[in-house]
Amino acid sequence: MGLTITSIDHSFAGRVDGVDLSRPVDDDVFARIRDAFHRHAVLVITGQDALEDAAQVAFSQRFGPLERSIRFDKSGGGQLPEISNLTNVDEDGSLYPLDDSRARYHAGNEMWHTDSSFKPVPANASLLSGRVVPPEGGDTEFADARAAYDALSAARKAEIDDLVVEHSIIYSRSLMGGDVIFNEADRAALPPVHQTLVRTHPETGRKALYTGSHASHVIGWPGEKGRAVLKELLDHTVQARFVWRHRWSAGDLVMWDNRSVLHRARPYPADRYPRIMRRTTVAGDGPTVITEAA
Ligand code: OGA
Ligand code: MN
Repeated sequence: MGLTITSIDHSFAGRVDGVDLSRPVDDDVFARIRDAFHRHAVLVITGQDALEDAAQVAFSQRFGPLERSIRFDKSGGGQLPEISNLTNVDEDGSLYPLDDSRARYHAGNEMWHTDSSFKPVPANASLLSGRVVPPEGGDTEFADARAAYDALSAARKAEIDDLVVEHSIIYSRSLMGGDVIFNEADRAALPPVHQTLVRTHPETGRKALYTGSHASHVIGWPGEKGRAVLKELLDHTVQARFVWRHRWSAGDLVMWDNRSVLHRARPYPADRYPRIMRRTTVAGDGPTVITEAA
């Protein structure tokens, strides 16, 4: 069967069938997938049961250089530096205890976010491979932050267009309560960064609201006022009319554009079922905030 690309329910998600990413794909097949990715912002590539880490890295790299995983023990490191291993299964095959710091680190994905917005150069795209998925729960939701921006009034756009926001993973994980996940050395390695509140997509020119869990406050504004506007814009972005939910089948490879959508994991009974996902992350082209040389 040849490659087919269809829209899912007229949403911003597309579905790709009939490609085998465990082997190198031809340039023309790759170009069709890339074009569909820019049209949709989320693509579900089905039937990738044979996908292994090295082939996932090779396919992902065709979109650009990959990030290296932050491999605190919390992330449950994969074999290759480009692979983030999102799993609740320990090396001995047992499921993590629910209060395990690795489990809590991953549970941070249940807040709406965009990947690597806490890094000075945030990610362009993420590719998440469902290797083992639970029979209930564990869906991933996406919110179209471009449509959310477009739906704002012209006056509101003018008020927020030039705002700059501080993002920090130390901040987002602190929202989860409980014991500290990051030690002093981690904190020193992950200082807060600045991102524009509105991110313009270089390929499509579309603007998107760039918020999510790592966004803590607006630069130059009193903390409370900034937090309030970020909450208002996040609530606006994740309204049901902008959200699409993916129910995983093992072998799905789902890729999304971090410049265009927010996403979050939904909970599942992690003390009963394994969930093993592998992520590759296409690095960004540069910082979102262009500062003038001092
Ligand atoms: C991620 C992520 C969500 C999920 O891999 O970046 O947020 O459903 N995953 O596992
Ligand atoms: Mn994520």
